[in-house]
Amino acid sequence: MPIFKLGRVKHPIFVDSAWSGSEVRVEPLIPSLDLIAVYGAGGHGRAVAEAAFLRWPDSEIVYIDDACLSPALDGRPVYLPEALSPGTPVALGIGDNAARERVGRWLMDRDQPLLLVAHPHASFSPSAEPGSGLFVGPNAVVHTGARLGAGAVVNSGAVVEHDARVGDFAHVAPGAVLGGGVFIDSGVLVGLGARVLPGVHVGERAVVAAGAVVTEDVEPEATVVGVPARPVGQVV
Ligand SMILES: CC(C)(COP(=O)(O)OP(=O)(O)OC[C@H]1O[C@@H](n2cnc3c(N)ncnc32)[C@H](O)[C@@H]1OP(=O)(O)O)[C@@H](O)C(=O)NCCC(=O)NCCS
Repeated sequence: MPIFKLGRVKHPIFVDSAWSGSEVRVEPLIPSLDLIAVYGAGGHGRAVAEAAFLRWPDSEIVYIDDACLSPALDGRPVYLPEALSPGTPVALGIGDNAARERVGRWLMDRDQPLLLVAHPHASFSPSAEPGSGLFVGPNAVVHTGARLGAGAVVNSGAVVEHDARVGDFAHVAPGAVLGGGVFIDSGVLVGLGARVLPGVHVGERAVVAAGAVVTEDVEPEATVVGVPARPVGQVV
């Protein structure tokens, strides 16, 4: 059943939190939500909260954060994780892949519903498959047949071309482009404005430097830099 129309995303969708990475079950469209908790009150969390607000303007949006010193941000209250009630839909608002994965897996273990937040100005192909807890930023494009893992981020203006795969808790940074059929594995960061050429595989938790152009496969946990991208060492 098509969920989105290519062009502007028309509706919010709510994705089952138990996605295993091999298949995704999409719940019926939910036109409104009473309460949304954005986990993470940093810069990325505030961007996620703003997108959630644009999509569900009648919802109350709160932050969950264990390290935020302020009781409220942008007029939205900040609570400790202990305050999170079972059943409250949570949007993952943490930019760092490892931290987002820790929190995302903790939430999944609690059977907390994870919310897919796609900014209203994102384009999402009806044939693309979203994972639970995904964030798609403004002006991002997720094209035909793309598959996106749980807790992944396709940030502002990033492009995930046809049939590309983005692993669980991976992050395609603002302005980055994945060509057709690219596979970026779990936990990969594709840095600001980087390009990954069609069909290339980037191994788990590798880092593609900002501005790099990746022309061949990248080993897991490697960092690659430059044009064409070359490895510079292992992620610590
Ligand atoms: C590649 C990267 C991971 C290296 O980070 P780091 O390990 O902290 O390395 P440093 O900043 O100490 O830089 C090490 C060297 O690489 C160079 N360098 C850093 N980033 C570079 C880049 N993107 N392209 C080319 N060279 C780069 C530095 O100039 C420095 O060169 P030098 O040794 O000749 O002085 C980081 O710079 C990067 O590009 N991260 C992606 C960030 C991003 O896009 N985040 C998304 C936010 S939404």
